[in-house]
Amino acid sequence: PAMYGERKNSLGLNMNIHSQADDFIAAVQQYRDKQWQGGPIVDGKTVETDHQVSITSPQETAKQVGRIYWGDKKLAEQALQSANKAYRAWREVPVDERATCLEKFADLMEANRNELIALCSVEAGKGLQDGIDEVREAVDFCRYYAKEARKLMDGEIQLPGPTGEDNKLKLEGRGTFICISPWNFPLAIFVGQVVAALVTGNSVIAKPAEQTGLIAYRAVQLALEAGIPGNVLHFMPGSGAEVGSFLTSQEDIGGVCFTGSTYTAQAINRALAARTGPIVPLIAETGGQNAMLIDSTSLPEQVVTDVVASAFQSAGQRCSALRVLFVQDDIADRIFDLLRGAMEELEVGDPLLHETDVGPVIDGIAKTNLEQHISDIQQAGRLIARAPMPDYTQGGTFVSPTAIEIDSISQLVKENFGPILHVIRYKTEELDDVIDSINGTGYGLTFGIHSRNETFAYDIASRVDVGNVYINRNQIGAIVGVQPFGGRGMSGTGPKAGGPHYLTRFITEKTRSDNI
Ligand code: NAD
Ligand code: ALA
Repeated sequence: PAMYGERKNSLGLNMNIHSQADDFIAAVQQYRDKQWQGGPIVDGKTVETDHQVSITSPQETAKQVGRIYWGDKKLAEQALQSANKAYRAWREVPVDERATCLEKFADLMEANRNELIALCSVEAGKGLQDGIDEVREAVDFCRYYAKEARKLMDGEIQLPGPTGEDNKLKLEGRGTFICISPWNFPLAIFVGQVVAALVTGNSVIAKPAEQTGLIAYRAVQLALEAGIPGNVLHFMPGSGAEVGSFLTSQEDIGGVCFTGSTYTAQAINRALAARTGPIVPLIAETGGQNAMLIDSTSLPEQVVTDVVASAFQSAGQRCSALRVLFVQDDIADRIFDLLRGAMEELEVGDPLLHETDVGPVIDGIAKTNLEQHISDIQQAGRLIARAPMPDYTQGGTFVSPTAIEIDSISQLVKENFGPILHVIRYKTEELDDVIDSINGTGYGLTFGIHSRNETFAYDIASRVDVGNVYINRNQIGAIVGVQPFGGRGMSGTGPKAGGPHYLTRFITEKTRSDNI
């Protein structure tokens, strides 16, 4: 408890204890055939526009799971006007009241946990364990930022007044934040961005990814039920190219909080720079070319368990996921054998089943791109293993987890966002070049090391330009308040989500020098 102060992260569920897991799985599976509805929410009301899209499941592409109305520029403009009027009153609401809304929102997500987990699965193809973790992370973001905001913003900071003057510093919201999120954490990242902006006294227009508007819609309904005013939080599902780029090119916004690809972050950066008017912050968390380095002192069985989790959990669709494994030549053959065996055992299939290890990738475009990459890189490399694909996978957008040996990280021109692991053998005398090549990608998100040589591990950890280093474990699943998460370089601007500095970027400061 001392680690978290007075706050504790939410509890999980041990899926290996049948008495706990069976009831939970049955409760989540009840939602398998539900049809969800959603649409933009402006001033607390759902708007039925003339553009409604159908959402289908990545694991069963023939099956519709719901329909959602999309917003457009006109509606986005209306939401922005309302949000801009509302934030002046919202920023004067005591921080304790704003934080209490977040805590109520967290309670409501916990109360609706099974439905949210089902939505994570049917809409985004996430497995049961991923769904549990996703809801926990969203809940933890609410409680963590509530606590951090109370600490940071409670009252004014008294400054010295040598001449008898009363000097005070006040922290306050900046205006309307445009929060734009990806599909791979359709609840946790969506909620994390929104609540960070709200608790610091900003209004928000939240734009979810095209693929995952339904779970985001459900989250916004719960946030409004928790007491966030309807004119302060607006929801704008729609296309990134239309609604996203419209909102990020408006003059009268207070800032942009974005998570997604490096390419889109760069487009938003350009759009912000091309505007006239206020200079506003861009918080961007983006992709990676994440590596792990293992030396000959490491424990091969542990290495392979952690490699498989890092590369293939969530079908490799985590920004933190392992993409390039560097194996010291002395142990490479042994590691390859163990890896083949472990991949043979992977169950690819229906994410709503307990036994499934790897679900689908998000959609047909992702599948085509990933299969194309596998085919291209195989020409220049050597296949180590592909996991078996049962018949079930024919109905969805599944990609078989794949490990391929290549010669150099420079063969990878972009992030390949799926279950593909590239493996490179290195010799001890090549280590400096290996580190240079990893830093040379320009990305800097996660990095893993497996070694029992402490001096070696810490030396490598200090030399890689990344945001999160993991030693002798897997390199995914950062925990709120425990492993603040985020990268540098082409992987993001910081500050780290779930860390003590995150809220500061949502705030502006006012000094009052008072001679009354
Ligand atoms: P994406 O960049 O395609 O889309 C992200 C969001 O941006 C979506 O809501 C999309 O509609 C919107 N968008 C697209 N074009 C836009 C534009 N011109 N202006 C404004 N908004 C626009 O990313 P994705 O495919 O949804 O997500 C996967 C990516 O996210 C991967 O690259 C992954 O590494 C990254 N990611 C990073 C983190 C992190 O914390 N660093 C976490 C999760 C995902
Ligand atoms: N925070 C997520 C992870 O660490 C992206 O896997």
